[in-house]
Amino acid sequence: MTRIGVFDSGLGGLTVLRELAKTNKSQYFYFGDSLRVPYGGRSEEELRRFSVDIVDFLEKFSIDYYVIACNTLSVTVTDFLREKYKKKFIPITDLALRACEKYQGKFLVLGTETTVNSHFYKKNLEKNPNTTVYEVAASKLVDLIEDDKKDDEKLNEYIDSYIKIAKEKKIENILLACTHYPIIRDKIERRLDYKANIIDPAIFLSESLESASDNLDINIFMSKKTPATENLIPKLIDFPYKLNYLKENL
Ligand code: DGL
Repeated sequence: MTRIGVFDSGLGGLTVLRELAKTNKSQYFYFGDSLRVPYGGRSEEELRRFSVDIVDFLEKFSIDYYVIACNTLSVTVTDFLREKYKKKFIPITDLALRACEKYQGKFLVLGTETTVNSHFYKKNLEKNPNTTVYEVAASKLVDLIEDDKKDDEKLNEYIDSYIKIAKEKKIENILLACTHYPIIRDKIERRLDYKANIIDPAIFLSESLESASDNLDINIFMSKKTPATENLIPKLIDFPYKLNYLKENL
């Protein structure tokens, strides 16, 4: 059975694993770094080091190829990891670009500070001269999700400030360029006062991979047990899975 490694800074990548599991039966090994989340805003050196910790851990399972679920890691360490491990790494950002090709008009990219500062999406999407891309670092959302505070009123206030430009300019397409945001997609949709296309790259990714097996086997490794991991993992993953914590504290 094909063994696919999927990793992210924390819980967010489970939105990618969820979509993959729906359409592609395989053996999955997911690593979420709930101990060191957030990754957004960290230095490239740190992100390289963290990604090596993760991939070294996953390599024990004879992984055939990797999906870098995290946008922040995708824009900073993809080439580094390919060079170091000589393996296939699929960054979610490439799939996100392909997903965007289906849409026309203006785009709002919501991502971490690191993703936004890389201007990966702006540079690539604006190769199409008819496209204008606005970028907003929605930095406060990840912590609230990882702290299990996604029903906090503060979350709505932050969302309102991040989508203000979308409302003003009636931006047709909103790219969820961070794996954590699909977890609060319904809230983002509710705060908009018009209908926009909300693009979740994970759905496009899962449509692009071929189902490799008749069996689905999901192994989840989280570097720390937290209230949010306990609460959200069963809600996010609707398939049988084995969950392991590297550090047992709540
Ligand atoms: N979920 C990650 C991403 O897709 C990063 C969130 C964070 O840890 O700051 O960019």
